[in-house]
Amino acid sequence: MNILILGSGGRECAFAWKFAQSPKTEKLFIAPGNAGTEKYGINLPINVNDFDAIKDIVLDNRINMVIVGPEDPLVNGLHDYFLADDSLKEVPVIGPQKFAAQLEGSKEFAKEFMFRHNIPTAKYQSFTKESIDQGFNFLDSLKPPYVLKADGLAAGKGVLIISDLEEAKRELEEMLTHEKFGTASAKVVIEEFLDGIEMSSFVLTDGNDYVLFPNAKDYKRIGEGDKGLNTGGMGAVSPVPFANSALLKKVEDRIIKPTIEGLKKDKIPYVGFIFIGLIMVKNEPMVIEYNVRMGDPETEVVFPRIKSDFVDLFKATANKKLSEFAIEIDERSACTVMLVSGGYPENYEKRKEISGLENVKESILFHAGTIRENDKVLSSGGRVIAVTSYGPNFKEALEQSYKNIELIKFDRMNFRKDIGFDL
Ligand code: AMP
Ligand code: GLY
Repeated sequence: MNILILGSGGRECAFAWKFAQSPKTEKLFIAPGNAGTEKYGINLPINVNDFDAIKDIVLDNRINMVIVGPEDPLVNGLHDYFLADDSLKEVPVIGPQKFAAQLEGSKEFAKEFMFRHNIPTAKYQSFTKESIDQGFNFLDSLKPPYVLKADGLAAGKGVLIISDLEEAKRELEEMLTHEKFGTASAKVVIEEFLDGIEMSSFVLTDGNDYVLFPNAKDYKRIGEGDKGLNTGGMGAVSPVPFANSALLKKVEDRIIKPTIEGLKKDKIPYVGFIFIGLIMVKNEPMVIEYNVRMGDPETEVVFPRIKSDFVDLFKATANKKLSEFAIEIDERSACTVMLVSGGYPENYEKRKEISGLENVKESILFHAGTIRENDKVLSSGGRVIAVTSYGPNFKEALEQSYKNIELIKFDRMNFRKDIGFDL
């Protein structure tokens, strides 16, 4: 089977690593990929939103399946583009069509879906420029802190949590009337603040049935102790130590099953991942958000714990045979620590030469933002490399990653030294 993975981050490197292990993978392509993915397949330099270029790749290389890493091609309708094209419609795309991708692409769509199907989530209302006064009144009726969310995709920056009422009103105005997040904030969802500890569930569905992937917890803030600016993610652990079987049963019964059933009731076809951001409020799980893809860096700890063959798994997904598929999970813990460029998530420099990678033997290196030039590996993004290790528990897995990080160097390399501190 010839497989095309779309994307260029640590998540896509983990997909490539896993597919490369399958004897059933014939040719593996990653577009555009990075210096890590080229160990596992062939990188093709295209933009993931250039659907015509993707079509050419698929036809030229006789691709049998397309795996979509990031959300934007899905929200922009890549799957629909395949279904509408006679030469592409038989090629399965793992990732939902545009309508279903609104679960991530529109916070209001996701909220309406959850309320329609009685899936526990924070109370909310949504507002536009025209209804801004009602928005101010709604803020008056809530207790601080205030949660304001741009309805559309805002590169992970569209959620504001503000403790002061007047500031929350000013930000609402910035979002609605001054397009703080462009068209993404033409509509704003205001929701009740939920207090609790977060974790994520990962579901792969064929539209009828689903398999559960291992759960994980990521660390989004740049600073130790979960302080400072939000990032794409600085590290992750799987499994989540506090997620005992009673809690996981609640998550499955109250959230995962109603989500899959809700899609069916609403007649929304869905093939792909659902990544559910959860928060435990007094030990009761509630949904913070849906994503229509895997998480990054969560993938870098979730996939190493899957023993099943990926070609078999995704073939079963595409053929709607997941009900017959028993996923095999590695009982060990996996942890990852993300090495980032100094200055990230604000301004940072790229093209720093990375040394010592070849000395790392006891961790898996998932490249996130790297390029190769001649014999050198250079940084090319804020998040540069995820260092993943296994262990009998998350602490030992982390120790292994931290030990191996000492072997890697690049100018102004930064990472969090406290992943898992709250567990
Ligand atoms: P999102 O972009 O929806 O993942 O939101 C970013 C982060 O904001 C989440 O990971 C939570 O930490 C936080 N958050 C979002 N919604 C709420 C809420 N209703 N209550 C408390 N925290 C929230
Ligand atoms: N790590 C969070 C995300 O992928 O959205």
